[in-house]
Amino acid sequence: MTGVERVGVIGCGLMGSGIAEVSARAGYQVLVREVDDAAILVGRKRVDTSLGRAVEREKITPSERERTLERLSFTTELAELGERDLVIEAVVEDLSVKISLFRELDGICPPQTILASNTSSLPITEMAAATGRPDRMIGLHFFNPVPVMGLVEIVRTIATSDETLQTVTSFAETLGKEVVNAPDSSGFLVNRLLVPFMLDAVRLLEARVGSIEDLDRSMVLGCGHPMGPLTLCDFVGIDTVLRIAEIMHGEYRTERYAPPPLLRRLVSLRRFGRKSGLGFYDYSQTPPVAMPL
Ligand code: 3HC
Repeated sequence: MTGVERVGVIGCGLMGSGIAEVSARAGYQVLVREVDDAAILVGRKRVDTSLGRAVEREKITPSERERTLERLSFTTELAELGERDLVIEAVVEDLSVKISLFRELDGICPPQTILASNTSSLPITEMAAATGRPDRMIGLHFFNPVPVMGLVEIVRTIATSDETLQTVTSFAETLGKEVVNAPDSSGFLVNRLLVPFMLDAVRLLEARVGSIEDLDRSMVLGCGHPMGPLTLCDFVGIDTVLRIAEIMHGEYRTERYAPPPLLRRLVSLRRFGRKSGLGFYDYSQTPPVAMPL
């Protein structure tokens, strides 16, 4: 028993839809807020497709899928999140957007509601400071694809209470996730390791040390990674990788996190990876074909 029954999720993109899905699958009543009806339609479709895949792979039964969908509802009104026990934010990686969102939520939600951010690199403390409840603000960082990845990073600030930490840890465990605790420093644990790895692959590509395919195959076949670092950039989103690297580089000021120019060039061309159809690979082809660079 976590003390959480009703969950709010803000944003139904790649991460928000996954968080909403796993929460509803675990039995929580979930209300998802998106900016407009078109975004709701896309988000709902994302959840539906993932649940379809879970049924296909026999992870859930068709009736579990139906029950999950019954527990999920959508709104465009932030004010409707007032009745939630836990609200998880998964909007764009922009501190000012998140701060104003949490300030607004603080005015809407009753004092006992816990506010959580799925940020991968921004300071939770800054968001907590914008609210009148820094003891009930925490980081809850999921991994893509959320229904498949077994980990959640829980980020406690110096203001987070023990009770909030316990409630959110139990909540994450009821989703079938394992928890690691991380300090409120940019990139937490996973991205401190993963982001330099992806950036190094881009640097090696820029330096013509290896081709896209060879760099990826090296890590898949040589080290047993499920996907190579450039495929992973496409999977996470090249724009997202760039944004996280910029934030981490701003925080640590070391070359380790400096975004390589090629990442910026790809983003300028809107080659965001899998979600835009083109990145290091061309996803209009099956299997995807490496792009000439
Ligand atoms: N619900 C539940 N389970 C599902 C599912 C769903 N919707 N879809 C797939 N699965 C299960 C499958 O049944 C299968 O389980 P099994 O191994 O027990 O049979 C497993 O997930 C793998 O599924 P697939 O066979 O469809 O897919 P692949 O074997 O091709 O793996 C992948 C796809 C899971 C994406 C794999 O390539 C992978 O792990 N890639 C690395 C992903 C990664 O590193 N993610 C982290 C990104 S970083 C991040 O998110 C943080 C951010 O801050 C940047």
